[in-house]
Formats: sequence, C-alpha cells, structure tokens
Amino acid sequence: MNIIRKLMRIMDSVLKHRWNNMDSTIKMSHSTPAADSGLQARSAMKINTLATLVKEAAQRITPYILHTPLLFTPALSQDTGVNIHLKLENEQITGSFKARGAFNTVGVLAAEGVTTVYIASTGNHGLACVPACRTFNVACQVVVPVTADLEKKEKLRANGANLREHGTDCSETEAFTRRLAKEHGSPYLSPYNEYLIMAGQGTVGREILLDLPEVDAIFVAVGGGGLISGVAAYVKSHRPTCKVVGCSPARSKVMHESVRAGRIIQEDSEETLSDGTAGGLEEGALTFPLCRDLVDDWILVDEEEIAQAVYYCLKQHRKVVEGASGVALAAVKKAKAQYQGQQVAVVMCGANISMKNLQTIIQNYA
Ligand SMILES: Cc1ncc(COP(=O)(O)O)c(C=O)c1O
Repeated sequence: MNIIRKLMRIMDSVLKHRWNNMDSTIKMSHSTPAADSGLQARSAMKINTLATLVKEAAQRITPYILHTPLLFTPALSQDTGVNIHLKLENEQITGSFKARGAFNTVGVLAAEGVTTVYIASTGNHGLACVPACRTFNVACQVVVPVTADLEKKEKLRANGANLREHGTDCSETEAFTRRLAKEHGSPYLSPYNEYLIMAGQGTVGREILLDLPEVDAIFVAVGGGGLISGVAAYVKSHRPTCKVVGCSPARSKVMHESVRAGRIIQEDSEETLSDGTAGGLEEGALTFPLCRDLVDDWILVDEEEIAQAVYYCLKQHRKVVEGASGVALAAVKKAKAQYQGQQVAVVMCGANISMKNLQTIIQNYA
C-alpha cells in the first residue's frame, strides 16, 4: 500500500512539473539572452509549449469527444453587422467543453498509473470528469457542498458520480477535497488551474481555426480562465492576428478585475445566471499570467443581456444554452462597433441551464 501511495505521489509531482520541464526544454533550444530577460518573450515560450500540449490533447481526446459544429447565425449577423459563428459546445458530450479538459487530463493520468482522482464540483467539471474517469478506468470521488442545488446533485448521481457531501460553500468543499486527495496520495483535479486541463479546453480554438481559418476574433466566457487560456495559446501561436476576447458577467468578474489590477485579487461574486463562470481565483493561478498576456480585450455584460442572449439561441436556433454561453454572445452584441464586417466565433460553452432559469427566461421574453 505504501509503495502505491509513493508511486501516486511521484505521478502527481510529475504532472505538476511537466510544464516547467517542457518550458525549459524549449528555452534551451530557442531562447536568446535578450529573450530570456523579457516577460513577453517568456510568455511566448509558454504559448508555444501550451499550443503543443493542445495539439497533443486533440489527438488524445478525438475518440471520445465531438468536433462540434460552427453555426453561422444569419439573423444576429444582419442585426449587428458582424459575421457571427456559434461554436456549439453546448452540444458537446456532457453538455459543455469541460469534457475536453477532463478526457485529456484523466487520459494522461491513467497512462501514468493513477487509479483515483478527487474533484470538487457541482457543475460541468464534475459532469465531465465522471465519464472521463469511467473511460480510463480511474476511480473518481466527487465532493459537493451539502448546500448544493438538488437538481445538480441529482444530475451528477444519475450520471454515475460517486458523491460525497461536505461543507456549506465551495471554498470549504474544495479545501476538504484537496486534503482528502493529499491523505490518499491521489491527484486533486482543479477545473482550470492545470495545464493539461487548459490544453484540453484549447482544442476548442483548434477546431475553430480548422473550420474558419479566416476568423478575426473569438469571444470566450471566463471563470477561472482555463478555457480562454488554452484557446488563446493555440490561436495566438497559429493565427496571431486573431483577437481573443474575455467575457464575464458584471456580477462575477474576478479574472477581469485581476487583469485590470495586474495581480490576482479576491472579490466576492454576486449570484448570476452565468453560474458556470462564477467564483474566485486561486492564489497563484496558472491561468492569470496567460489571461493577462494573451487576451486582447475584456467585456462585462449584465444579467438582462445574458438572459436575452440565452433566449435568442432558443428562439432563432432552437438551441438550449446556459448563462455562460449567453455571456459570450451578449458580449459580441455589446462590442459590435469594433468588429463590423469581421468573422467572429463565439464559444457557446455549455447547455446546462437549470429548468427553473430556463422557464423564467421563456416566461419573460416569449
Ligand atoms: C459552461 C461554462 N462556461 C465557461 C466556464 C469558464 O471556464 P473557465 O473556468 O475555464 O474559465 C465554465 C466553467 O466551469 C463553464 O462551466
């Protein structure tokens, strides 16, 4: 038993140091003395390394996830003067892009001999990790707050999650899960603060470039920043002229404010329809410098704008999307003046809206 734990600890530290090792390999082969000293040059190294991880992730996860459609939306394009293409991750397996990062990370860990992982999630990350673990024969302990939404708990259980309830808020639950993972010598899988997760999410950007090589801008909803970091690293290394735009609800905008402040800040989030992107940012989050250096523009939207965008998808395309998707779409409408006549992709990142919220939106707008 001790030997197994020791092995798992080694695997965990291999995973944590993978990035640094790869980064320094690239530095040795490509750097100049001047490049080593500059922050920008250092970021460039990281972009290339992460872009390579995205390519590897695409190969690894292709058998398990969908290459989702990129749907042109004529009505909104005509209305805004922007050629808007919806990247339908709401149709991805498990109902969000999170399946990409989960299959990539669990696939690598399983190949390295990891047999159990711990996660803390009431939402899309949990729904994505459960089938990923099942596929790679890895046990998955999902911990949720006692106070978590009943509909979400039921959905996780119905999808086969091994659920344990602890804590009354997300940070308490997360701290407990990390402790549990440490005690068992197994990895804790963060929903965003891990390069393999970012690399998996970055395959969204790779597919957009394959399907729309002339894309001028990509709008992405931001929570912890895993999705936008992966997308931006890949896109900037293959089409540097393409803008990457970070979109957040005005009621929960920690990454937005952190980038403005030039450091990670802690601020309380208010309840938002975009529950997928809500929440804080871990101290030392790996996504922060990537967001700071790679994201071209940041846009905030209010709850009314989010709800209208969700309703638009339902009415015009008969697509159910969650609030976070609405954030990205509402942001394009808001920034339309800057993108006139351009080709813009919007990541419709998920479909997992609660029945109650969907009902309220339909009642308000139909
Ligand atoms: C549907 C949806 N969109 C966007 C995000 C934000 O992703 P990230 O935390 O990687 O920024 C999440 C995060 O859980 C999500 O579930």
